[in-house]
This record gives sequence, C-alpha cells and structure tokens, in this order.
Amino acid sequence: MDFKVALAEAEREYAERHPGSRAAMTRMAAWMPGGDTRSTTWFRPYPLVMDRAERVEMTDVDGNVVLDFLGNYTALVHGHRPPFILAAIEDALRRDFLFGTPMPEQGELARRIVERLDSAERVRFTNSGTEAGMLAARVARRFTGRTRLALAEHSYHGSYDQLVWDAAERTGATTFPANDVGGAERALDAAGPLAAVFLEPVLGSGGIITVENDFLRFLREYTRRTGALLIFDEVMTFRLGHGGRQQATGVAPDLTMLGKIIGGGMPVGAVAGRADVLAVTDPSAPGSMEHSGTFNGHRLTMVAGAAGLDALDRAAIERLNRLGDRLRDGLLKVADGAKVPVSVTSCGSLVNLHAAADVTTPAQAEGAAHSGLARYLHLALINRGVLMAHRGEMCISTAMTEDTVDRAVAAAADALAEAARLEGLE
Ligand SMILES: Cc1ncc(COP(=O)(O)O)c(C=O)c1O
Repeated sequence: MDFKVALAEAEREYAERHPGSRAAMTRMAAWMPGGDTRSTTWFRPYPLVMDRAERVEMTDVDGNVVLDFLGNYTALVHGHRPPFILAAIEDALRRDFLFGTPMPEQGELARRIVERLDSAERVRFTNSGTEAGMLAARVARRFTGRTRLALAEHSYHGSYDQLVWDAAERTGATTFPANDVGGAERALDAAGPLAAVFLEPVLGSGGIITVENDFLRFLREYTRRTGALLIFDEVMTFRLGHGGRQQATGVAPDLTMLGKIIGGGMPVGAVAGRADVLAVTDPSAPGSMEHSGTFNGHRLTMVAGAAGLDALDRAAIERLNRLGDRLRDGLLKVADGAKVPVSVTSCGSLVNLHAAADVTTPAQAEGAAHSGLARYLHLALINRGVLMAHRGEMCISTAMTEDTVDRAVAAAADALAEAARLEGLE
C-alpha cells in the first residue's frame, strides 16, 4: 500500500506551514544545483530551511519550531549551542585559529581519542568523515602494498566513490553481506588479496542495524589471516560507548574512522589506530606518504571537539543510551498498536523508525526508506514539531530529557493514527 492519501495531506500541511522555506530554496536554486549543497538534507517537496537553534529546538525561517532528533545526522551529541563548547570556541577566537603550523590543541584532541579508544595509538586529522575514509584507504594500500578494498553491503562511509558500496562494480571494490559469515567469506575469498575491509559496527544509514559480535570476530580473524587491514567506521557509532562501539564488541580494528562528535559541531574527521600502520604518514620518515589538508587540525574544531568529548563522559553516554532505549520502547509500543506497518531498530542513542513491519536487515530498511509511508512519516512528524532523518533515523542529544523523548513518541503515535484514519484502515 502506498499511503498516497496520507502523504498528499501531509504535503499540503507542510507546504502551508513552510512558505518561507520554499521561497528560500527557489531563490538559492539560482546559484546552487537544486538550491542545496548536501544530498542528505534534500527531500520532497522541498527541505526545511533553518534559521537558528538552542539546545533541543530548531527554528526555521517561517518561525516553526522542531525538536531536533536529527542532530545533524547524529553529529550534535550535545544539542545546539552547548555553553562549554561556545566558551572553548570564544577562547580560541581571542588567540586566532589558523597558523599554517602545528598547534598544541591538535595533540590535546588526539590524546583524548587515544585515551578512549583501546585500538588507537596514533591519530591523524581530516576535515570530514569522507576524508577520513579516503585517508584510511590510502594508508591501507600503502601499508599492505595491495589495492582492493572490501565494503559491507548497505554501508555508508561518505561520498568518496571508492567507498560507496553500490558503486563497487565501477570502482572494483568487493562487497560482502554483514551478519552472514558464509556469504561474506565467499565474497572476500573470491576478491583475492585485499588491502582493507571496511565496516560500520552498527550499520547507520543502513537502518541502525547492529553487526553481531560473531561476525566482527570472523572479520578480525579473516583479515589477520589474509594480511588485510580491518577498518571500523565509527564516525556515527563512537557516541555509543566511552571507547566507541568497538569497546562493547571486544573486537579491535587496525584503524578506526572518526568524525561527527569528535569535532563538537565543527567540520572534522580522523583516522585513529595502530602506530606502525599510521607511521606511513609520518612526515619525518623518508619516503612517507603525503597527506595534507589546509584546514586539517583547525583550532576551532580541536577545541570544540575536546570540550565536547570532556562533557561526554561515561555517565553522559549511559544517560544518552538510556534515553535511546526509552525512545525505542516508546516507538515499539506505538508500532505494536498501530494499524500501519512500522518497526523499530536501535543501538543505544541511535534509533530508526522504519516504514515497514519487521525490519531486521539493511536491505529491508532500504526498501522501507523509499516508501510513500516513509515520506508521510517524515513530513507528518515535522508538521507535529519533530525532525528526524527522512529514512526514519533518530538520535539522542545530552540536551534532551525524558519529556523530549516522550513528546517525539506522542507525535509518532498521532501521525500513525492519522495515517490509518486517512487511509481508511481503522
Ligand atoms: C558512518 C559514516 N561514515 C562516514 C560518514 C561521512 O562523514 P562526513 O559527512 O563528515 O563526510 C558518515 C556521515 O554521515 C557516516 O555516518
């Protein structure tokens, strides 16, 4: 069923509430393709255009307020304008922030990452998670002397072609199914010598699908045996534990891609991992691999990231994950009583409301994310003051309370009841 009636009604209400967003997008399309500069922020009929935000609330150019369960795709782990991050940035602004030389703050953020992440001995910064993937791939190729990369199906490592799993036919990468040891082993064996195997320990954009520990252990053993590097992409999952998601799995990768929360809201990426592997980038070593970036290690990013990580201690992470469980349980209860097929997956503070029943695999999540019901839910929740990703992904910030979570659950219950009514399912 395509939920055409409900979707049309949600679109009508959305258009009525957001004329300023439409005007801004139309205006910007004169200078930017489609008026946007980021594929993930665009949706039909046109995206929300935001003006300002404070803690858990964002206000768009029409003056509508939404609770922010998008968190800039999980990056804003402390919500908006956290005072400790603003103070760190203001302090850096007084001393200037870019010199074309190293600065002590780079070491301070690197130290925090090494102290938290058991598998990390050294860190190298980039400006985005995408660039972290590019760097990790280059390091792995240089270290192993091999070229071929392997990627999990439905993984997301940013917008670098060589790490886009469904571009593999073009790029020569190998793809393998997560959570399927037999299938993955066949795919990896068929690929020949690999430089690296990339994996998100929880598939994020793939629908918040947790990768099982047995599968991670298989990959660890396989890569060790065959001489490939194992690279965990913890750009999204680092928030799940003090030592990232990997701490709970007991599996240590050779390299870890980081981004999002380690920048405190500023643009960031990093590769952390074994000292002997990252040594290929050591500029003091003869013949080392060139890795530069005009803005790598920007002071505003370094100080915002350090302040953000300091505030994200074990107690804060536990609280985030508890609120995530509350959101999951609330949505599950709503899903249970709904006449509309929805389901929920989660891992700690990352939650996905799927527009289909019984979603347990990334392929099912992908199908659900492009349905009429998914589009309806996304717009209907915005109309009710809750912003999530259009594929139904939601995340918790430390600025949220139980009340914030309960308001999102109530909005979802109302949106589902309205869909059932409009589609005559009652
Ligand atoms: C798991 C994962 N890896 C990599 C990236 C890419 O990071 P960035 O958007 O900073 O390039 C993302 C971004 O959503 C991500 O979720």
